[in-house]
Amino acid sequence: MNFELKPLNLVALANEKTDLLILLVSQDFKPGKDELSVLIAQTLKQGDFLTKAGTVLSLYRPVQANAPKVLLAGVGDGHARGVRGALAACAASLKASSVKKAIVGFAGPAHEDAVRAVPLAVAEASYVYTHTKSKPEARTLQKVLVAATNASEVKSSFDTGAATVAGVEFAKEWANRPANYATPTLLAQAAQSIAKSAKVTCEILGPKEVVKLGMGSFMAVAQGSDEPLRFIVLQYSGAPKAQPPVVLVGKGITFDSGGISIKPAAEMDEMKFDMSGAASVLGTFRTLAELKPAINVVGLIPACENLLNGKAVKPGDVVTSMSGQTIEILNTDAEGRLVLCDALTYAERFKPAAVVDIATLTGACVVALGGVRSGLFTSKPELADALYKAGEASGDLCWRLPLDDDYADGLKSNFADVANVAGRAGGAITAAKFLQRFTEKFDWAHLDIAGTAWKGGAAKGATGRPVPLLVEFLLSRVAGR
Ligand code: BES
Ligand code: MN
Ligand code: ZN
Repeated sequence: MNFELKPLNLVALANEKTDLLILLVSQDFKPGKDELSVLIAQTLKQGDFLTKAGTVLSLYRPVQANAPKVLLAGVGDGHARGVRGALAACAASLKASSVKKAIVGFAGPAHEDAVRAVPLAVAEASYVYTHTKSKPEARTLQKVLVAATNASEVKSSFDTGAATVAGVEFAKEWANRPANYATPTLLAQAAQSIAKSAKVTCEILGPKEVVKLGMGSFMAVAQGSDEPLRFIVLQYSGAPKAQPPVVLVGKGITFDSGGISIKPAAEMDEMKFDMSGAASVLGTFRTLAELKPAINVVGLIPACENLLNGKAVKPGDVVTSMSGQTIEILNTDAEGRLVLCDALTYAERFKPAAVVDIATLTGACVVALGGVRSGLFTSKPELADALYKAGEASGDLCWRLPLDDDYADGLKSNFADVANVAGRAGGAITAAKFLQRFTEKFDWAHLDIAGTAWKGGAAKGATGRPVPLLVEFLLSRVAGR
């Protein structure tokens, strides 16, 4: 999809030829004397249309425009949330096979957050998964023109939004692919495809290299599957070498059966999404490759399946992590922390400015925060602040949860330095406490995206979160922005 921003007012919009014209009307709409303004004003006056977000009035071949279909869409106060609601309500039209070109016009000046939200919301509304359909009906929408009278002022927000779409869609695509179409090997190839861009390099480690590194914890998870593990190292170099990088670590469990501590059958298919953290790292790199900000970023992805065979790791087994700490694996379904801890130790070699791991880590986080906000854990107030703000600014929300040391009590083991599970209580926090043991050498934050990375039910599918949050977080660290 191609996005373009133009400084068109309603007079100009009336002449612009398009398959679909969506006019975003806020509560602050001030009608001019032009025909479209008059039309909108009339619908409002008659009570046939409201500016409340989510309200849509559709018009067929109105004489006031040069489009077969015009939608008036209320956006409430005109900010991002209203725009998202409005464009979601236009989804059926944005998906229509007759619509190749759409115009989304602000009836009046546009807020920056709203402009950034438009490409993301249009992409979301028109997304179709095709990879494993025999007769794919791909997205027909190709060109999206966004019109705002103050286009020059909001250009950079728009560009950020459009580039973020590429990352979100990359993340969605890989998270949505079934586990037999998204093996660790294929995930590594996806990472390599991003490294074709300037400033991005990719290195793939396999079982041999991982043995040499001493990643005994990661290997223990992978050993129950015939599919070989991959450890993916992506590097984006947008700033001088001397500048310490931000390291993103993504959980890449391409399927989580639970292992010997096997999961119940219901909804187990959704565990193909257990590499959503990895997908969000790939997506973020996809956007970095496009925006080319002046920053250094490393992406680390431990990728493997959590399955069960005769060689699978068993409850009670003790393994030695790359850090040297021994771990008693009491529950093989708590595998995310086992692959992440070795990746966190590997991160030390980059002398990072900060490390953020992203993981569909715990069902407990889904219980705590649902699908609205990701769980945010860090002991560093500056990191907490920056990540929280990045969430608010991008609409990809998160919420901080605590890391008091008392929460680690349940991780004590009689047979190793630490156990991989504590009791049921505070499960998202005890998981974070486990990870924290491997982060002494740098500033670290953890995002538990178990509730936000995908939707279940009829709308089952990946969300592409938290790519918008991560992109905003990284951009906010670029000096002078
Ligand atoms: N991938 C799951 C977490 C998960 C569960 C995400 C449901 C989204 C929906 C993770 O590997 C897991 O199984 N965690 C266990 C940990 C437990 C054994 C301490 C969980 O949350 O039940
Ligand atoms: Mn698990
Ligand atoms: Zn898992």
